Amino acid sequence: MEKNFKRTLITTALPYANGPVHIGHLAGVYVPADIYARYLRAQGRDVIMIGGSDEHGVPITIKAREEGVTPQDIVDRYHNIIKDSMAELGISFDIYSRTTSDIHRQTASEFFRHLYDNGQFEQQTSMQPYDEQAGEFLADRYVMGTCPHCGSDRAYGDQCEACGSSLNATDLINPHSRLTSAPVTMRSTSHWYLPLNKWENNLRSWILDGHKEWKTNVYGQCKSWLDLGLQPRAVSRDLKWGVPVPVEGAEGKVLYVWFDAPIGYISNTKELLPDSWEKYWKDPETRIINFIGKDNIVFHCIVFPAMLMAYGDNYQLPDNVPANEFLNLEGDKISTSRNWAVWLHEYLRDFPGKQDVLRYVLTANAPESKDNDFTWADFQARNNNELVAIFGNFVNRAMVLTHKYFAGQVPAAGQLLPIDTAVFEDLARIKTSLESNLETFHFREALKDAMEIARLGNKYLQETEPWKLAKTDMERVATILNTALQICANLAVAFEPFLPFSAGKLAAMIGLTNPTWADLGRTDLIAPGTQLATPELLFEKIDDEAIQAQLDRLARIKEENRIKNFKAAPQAPDVDFDTFMKADLRVGTVIECEKVPKADKLLKFLIDDGLERRTIVSGIAKHYKPEDLIGKQICFIANLPVRKLKGIPSQGMILSAENADGSLVVIGPTAPVVPGAQVK
Ligand code: 2FM
Ligand code: ZN
Repeated sequence: MEKNFKRTLITTALPYANGPVHIGHLAGVYVPADIYARYLRAQGRDVIMIGGSDEHGVPITIKAREEGVTPQDIVDRYHNIIKDSMAELGISFDIYSRTTSDIHRQTASEFFRHLYDNGQFEQQTSMQPYDEQAGEFLADRYVMGTCPHCGSDRAYGDQCEACGSSLNATDLINPHSRLTSAPVTMRSTSHWYLPLNKWENNLRSWILDGHKEWKTNVYGQCKSWLDLGLQPRAVSRDLKWGVPVPVEGAEGKVLYVWFDAPIGYISNTKELLPDSWEKYWKDPETRIINFIGKDNIVFHCIVFPAMLMAYGDNYQLPDNVPANEFLNLEGDKISTSRNWAVWLHEYLRDFPGKQDVLRYVLTANAPESKDNDFTWADFQARNNNELVAIFGNFVNRAMVLTHKYFAGQVPAAGQLLPIDTAVFEDLARIKTSLESNLETFHFREALKDAMEIARLGNKYLQETEPWKLAKTDMERVATILNTALQICANLAVAFEPFLPFSAGKLAAMIGLTNPTWADLGRTDLIAPGTQLATPELLFEKIDDEAIQAQLDRLARIKEENRIKNFKAAPQAPDVDFDTFMKADLRVGTVIECEKVPKADKLLKFLIDDGLERRTIVSGIAKHYKPEDLIGKQICFIANLPVRKLKGIPSQGMILSAENADGSLVVIGPTAPVVPGAQVK
């Protein structure tokens, strides 16, 4: 529902501080939120953007245990990496804090206590997994066992990563503790539950009737949750790491991470504005926008709003939750545990000064309405064919021509031929579309609009060809270049929300100071006589080598994961010794090796076996080039019956080992031996 508002509070999902941030986080949450915040600021609207690290929860305790350090060590490390890398990317948080801050712990604790004192919780007892040896309750992630669906023996109590099924700890076969490997027992424990069912009608009318304008993925998810009927949700856990439950007798219990994390938005606002934070949360004239990924929808649209309703005190609900879908990487789901990601801090190291390229690609390819794929080929193409060839090229031409014909001074438009207004009519149309897309969170389309201005500039120079007029009509050249430079200035304004570094560089080059959004569309942004700086390229081509280095890194990670996940086949049934000794295994030297025509898997060998020369056909053509095997020594079984393969009699079998990825490696001696040597 549209309402009049005086200010905007933008929140961005608090990333877990158990790892650095990756392109999926950026495309889903931080880049769109930053574009929106910058746009509102450029318009002079009252806006704050809140961020911070989510520093509680089980994954952090697991990581700490794996590394033999404390959870605080883990969150200190990643909070700093995340905070610094996001700042370097230009994500313009007004505050980036953390949920281990004192102010957050107090705020979350007080929030719980307020609900508790007002009778907003139900206490319920349930049976939960317990580790007798450690004397601790086990979070689902701490329980491991065999997946009832695929038989993997490494399934967790909440999910099987081998087959992707969602599980409960009680579904696992042979559940055991990840802490001590002890078998898991069940023990009763008592927790506080927020009765979401009590708020169901309010949530239904607030979202389903009141926010039909929300994105269809968000609205649809909310509707299906609401249609299923809401149940009470536990908001405490038996865990050592977290905000202690502030109730007598609750020792050893902490707030569930999804209870305390969204309160982090409030505590971080308080930390930023100790005296005026309430107007951002409790004044109906504030508009709250939550930027999140799709896995967070239920918490932001159902659970946190129910918490706010239960709290009362005029807390406002979000006006919009423009959740994005997921970004994949080279066709596979991004995964922190599998290291399948482009990590922001590594990108910044590998591509110094190219923050805007990443911002551009992630926006152009943002998963706004469906999952999308990031590929390095697309990254390179968008940089080279769009940023360099369109945006950068236009600006550079306008700059270079002005230096050439007017010693770098902005020429006054000719008296007889004033500024070319037709171009600015197009610009006005683009501005309307750009604003409408930004206001409705369609950032991909908005970026296309901004790019349209650069295309317009290129087309204008192409059509007017000032370089051809320079000898005959300098007045016309002055008009054209004045017009082109005004387009450059408009580009600096339009691109500031998307590509703040390049927009700033461009503004500095053309002497444009402190532009605002209201300047967009103006024909007189830079005054005649302004001295332009020496032209510098806004964007540079990215070469194949840099892209290949990234692809090589991903290939290495894939290989490492294959090896990590490799499970050796179970041992075969025993074979008696005499039977085994009947196999005549020996070493031969490859004299000739060639492909078998019309058989893409087969290689034909001529082997010196110490007695004579024999032919063996082997199915390893996909794994070796024939010439690489000539002269090599290999092991083979000599006394198998002759078998015809593609009509060629094969007198034995070459031994090879199968790797985790299915590739075959031929087995041979580690030092030269005489051909015909027996393998014993
Ligand atoms: O999904 C996540 O990464 C959560 N840490 C997001 C929390 S958002 C908010 F509630 F703090
Ligand atoms: Zn499974």
